[in-house]
Amino acid sequence: MKISKVGVAGCGIMGSGIAQVAALAGYDVVVREVNKTLLDIGLDKLKKSLSKAADKEKISQQDMEDALGRIHGTINLEEFSDCDLVIEAIVEDLDAKQELFTSLEEICPKNTIFASNTSSLTISKIAASSAKKGRYVGLHFFNPVMQMPLVEVVKSAATDEKVFDTAFHFAESLGKKPITCKDETGFVVNRLLVPYLLDAIRALETGVASITDIDKGMHLGAGHPMGPFTLLDYVGLDTTYHIANIMFEEFGEERFSPPNLLKKMVENGMYGKKSGRGFYDYTGEKPVPAEL
Ligand code: 3HC
Repeated sequence: MKISKVGVAGCGIMGSGIAQVAALAGYDVVVREVNKTLLDIGLDKLKKSLSKAADKEKISQQDMEDALGRIHGTINLEEFSDCDLVIEAIVEDLDAKQELFTSLEEICPKNTIFASNTSSLTISKIAASSAKKGRYVGLHFFNPVMQMPLVEVVKSAATDEKVFDTAFHFAESLGKKPITCKDETGFVVNRLLVPYLLDAIRALETGVASITDIDKGMHLGAGHPMGPFTLLDYVGLDTTYHIANIMFEEFGEERFSPPNLLKKMVENGMYGKKSGRGFYDYTGEKPVPAEL
């Protein structure tokens, strides 16, 4: 199975990152957003990130220009009609994902591979109503996509062997280091990472230490590049809350249950870096612990 053209559905943080790494690896990429405003924001983010990579000499100026030349933005799903692989990176909502794939199955050729970047749903659930379950696979990237080497490649009980192998080699062709995961909610990383992040919030609620000291503890004592609160703000508190709820519903285990503080912060629009306030306040010159 040869992949030449890649469709990326969604040009948010993950979609724009996936579009970048695919274009840098030489694939023609069409990236789709639901409206022009979101598309422009996504493409702008994508250009800034490629330009930063060139400034940091991770890629050459020519690589950047070639990659940008290979990326085409659209709001029209029909433009996925000649894609060999479509990677879905839209909102973490089962109905929205199923609706998107139902449309794609009508638009795309019969051999197109349908991949989801879902962080907490299963590929089986996403493909539940499809007559082409064998063509579905998980390709779970990590944020920031340009810098994080891992891709979880997820095989459901129905995924065709050839589809899985093609997806795995595709991830390798991006310069990523893929791992094979069973189709279990949270796969490997979120299954372990989400309870850790929630535990950090519980430790804060209990008064074990301050935000900065818990962060410092895990950064300096456990070698994590970011402490849990910096990472929570980076991933997004709304995203983490949503993932935790899905995982708690699936497993029914306390370790996945979102702490009250997280719920309250999300209800108050404290989403982390993207909203200007989370566990840290980003509105000043440098981040300071937020008033909670
Ligand atoms: N493109 C390519 N490379 C870039 C870049 C870009 N746009 N911007 C920066 N870089 C390079 C830098 O040159 C640097 O390379 P070097 O180490 O060779 O010098 C490297 O990337 C690190 O960049 P910075 O110096 O700017 O920043 P940091 O050293 O502070 O690292 C970080 C930033 C990579 C985000 C690091 O803090 C980290 O790994 N944090 C943890 C992130 C993490 O855990 N992500 C997973 C989240 S969970 C998830 O995504 C799952 C989802 O389902 C929720």
